[in-house]
Amino acid sequence: MITITFVTNDMKSVTAPENSNLLRISLREKGGIPFKCGAGLCGTCKCHFDAGLEHADAIKPKERRHLTDADFANGYRMACQTFVNGDVSISWKTQA
Ligand code: FES
Repeated sequence: MITITFVTNDMKSVTAPENSNLLRISLREKGGIPFKCGAGLCGTCKCHFDAGLEHADAIKPKERRHLTDADFANGYRMACQTFVNGDVSISWKTQA
């Protein structure tokens, strides 16, 4: 099992099986990552790996529609498109 910490949600910490989809974990555990489509279209689920970026799987073509190379280099991914295989800490922008 791996540990996912939802930094923006008061550091809520949950466990999940390896190679879990990040948004799916968030939905199941009420992690709070924002989303609309869940299908790689809207870009709402943009989130930041505060730790554990090395545990994210390969960048998907759909992510490149919403994120730049600089975003990826700075630790941003789209939660609905990203699977994690180790401990990660995730933050995101809250809507005003
Ligand atoms: S929730 Fe729409 S792109 Fe991820």
